Amino acid sequence: MCGIFAYTGEKDAEPLLLEGLSLLEYRGYDSAGIFMPGKNLVKTSGAVTELRAKISKSGIEASAPSHSGIAHLRWATHGEPTEKNAHPHVDCTGDVYVAHNGIIENFRELKEALLKRGHTFKSETDTETLAHLIEEGLTVGKSFEESVVETLRQVRGTYGLLISYAKEPDTIITARMGSPVVLGIGNGENFIASDATPILKHTKDVVFLNDGDIAIVTANSYRVRTLKDESIERPKETLDWDVSEASRGGYPHFMLKEIFEAPEVLRNAMRGRVIASEGKAKLGGLESVAKRLEKIDRIIIVGCGTAYYAGLLGEYLIENLAGVPVEVELASEFRYRDAVIGKNTAVLAVSQSGETLDTLEAMREAKRKGALSLGIVNAVGSTIARETDAGVYNHAGPEISVASTKAFLSQVTVLALLGLFLGRSRKLSEKKGIELVEALEKLPELAEKVLAESDAIKAIATKYRTARDFLYIGRKWSYPMALEGAIKLKEISYVHAEGTGAGEMKHGPIAMIDESFPTLAIAPKDSVYEKTVSNILEIRARKGPVIAIATEGDTRIEELAEDLIYIPDVLECLSPVLSAIALQLFAYHLAAGKGLNVDKPRNLAKSVTVE
Ligand code: M6R
Repeated sequence: MCGIFAYTGEKDAEPLLLEGLSLLEYRGYDSAGIFMPGKNLVKTSGAVTELRAKISKSGIEASAPSHSGIAHLRWATHGEPTEKNAHPHVDCTGDVYVAHNGIIENFRELKEALLKRGHTFKSETDTETLAHLIEEGLTVGKSFEESVVETLRQVRGTYGLLISYAKEPDTIITARMGSPVVLGIGNGENFIASDATPILKHTKDVVFLNDGDIAIVTANSYRVRTLKDESIERPKETLDWDVSEASRGGYPHFMLKEIFEAPEVLRNAMRGRVIASEGKAKLGGLESVAKRLEKIDRIIIVGCGTAYYAGLLGEYLIENLAGVPVEVELASEFRYRDAVIGKNTAVLAVSQSGETLDTLEAMREAKRKGALSLGIVNAVGSTIARETDAGVYNHAGPEISVASTKAFLSQVTVLALLGLFLGRSRKLSEKKGIELVEALEKLPELAEKVLAESDAIKAIATKYRTARDFLYIGRKWSYPMALEGAIKLKEISYVHAEGTGAGEMKHGPIAMIDESFPTLAIAPKDSVYEKTVSNILEIRARKGPVIAIATEGDTRIEELAEDLIYIPDVLECLSPVLSAIALQLFAYHLAAGKGLNVDKPRNLAKSVTVE
């Protein structure tokens, strides 16, 4: 959701803070702010460009450089995205500055009490209460650290916090509860951020904080403690991410760059995980729970948005390959609906960020009820990755664009590997296993072929640029793809799109069809091809334009669809990987053609750490 970044060291903090913020822009971007001890607080509605402009105008650049500071990008939850509600927030004395990612649930009662005690509030945010509570500690003679700890003991909610105290300019206190915080450990300088992306350029040595951790960070030291006065050791880890992975690499948008990473992403998801000659999958991340996995008789997959749609494919894949019953649930529903969990149930959380709060809480709820908790996660060291009993990393590299593209491909690939893994110890024959592995290994090359169609897909997207609505249909393996194609289009182009099972069309959606309402039909030559073709005919009979995603060499469909996107022939259960790339390119080109901010669509954030 929001992004936080802090620096303490010998360098001029300002350019480092601004650069750190711009690398976090994908997390949230309706307002921004920066505080450096010795300089005035600068805040703005808008994003980092606006903040830069405001800093130049404010004249604070002319004063001596500051060697520490905290910065924040906001995605509004409490209060409008205005300058006054932008972080950091300050207490009455002007000495305590707080930047916060998360929500203070009991802020109303805390604020009421603070108002009664004479504090003046400048914003409508929940965060400002923290600055005033810290001020109260300092006023009665407590240290900076004690005042922060005392404040956090009073709050309920989630936070990834940065606190700067003007009278102790070299120290930054950070704390984590439900919202991620990573320390970057440099040489004579230290960094703090919501995730490792903006830190990597400076250092690859990081410390991931756990919920309940408070870290006192100076240029040359960091110390981690708890609210209970216990000091704790958090291990330093070295990340092997490539810094260039976090930049656009010549593409106009991160989204296009990330779509074009498909072949590499597919290879990375499979690297070292298949034994081709035996038709088996080797998932090291699940070894520690191998015995429990053997007894699992039910899997519940939880996720949100695109990760949920990957989960739907996971259901089809695992049931088909392993014969283990699978249910897929929206994490936001599962966590509140009192699901029945047996002792042989595994709950599998699918999440790119590993921080989606609903998915995390669904997984925690299942764990509390005794389920084996598993994760398929991209962000290394994220909360879901650390809290699940075991899991498989996607290794897709940082995904910056809000729309999930390469992560989806990787999730589906890992789910296929999981189906193979479970299947080979159950009902799946060696022959079928080998067939699947061979098909998986061909995927990167086939993905290249779909990517080569980018310009042709762009031409089709351009033709439909003014359409106000779209229907997406598909059957069996292509049904989840209809849902996924629709979410991709609506989230980045703001065009209304509805995904449905092709067989469901007659039960309602077909009423919308006329000559101005196009349908995107995902119709590869698979076991339900004839049925999908019948549905296309029904749409054509009502004069609805049809764009079809079809298998290369399918000439029959040329007569039915106005526009065609061909994908290579592939084992039926893996066709979603190829149709996903085509659907991503279609959505991208349509939105980019409208001149929209594809990587940062309005109202959305990359990492949804609120309920
Ligand atoms: O980080 P996660 O995979 O848990 O995120 C889940 C959804 O928020 C995410 O997939 C969202 O639907 C994407 N913007 C869709 O492209």
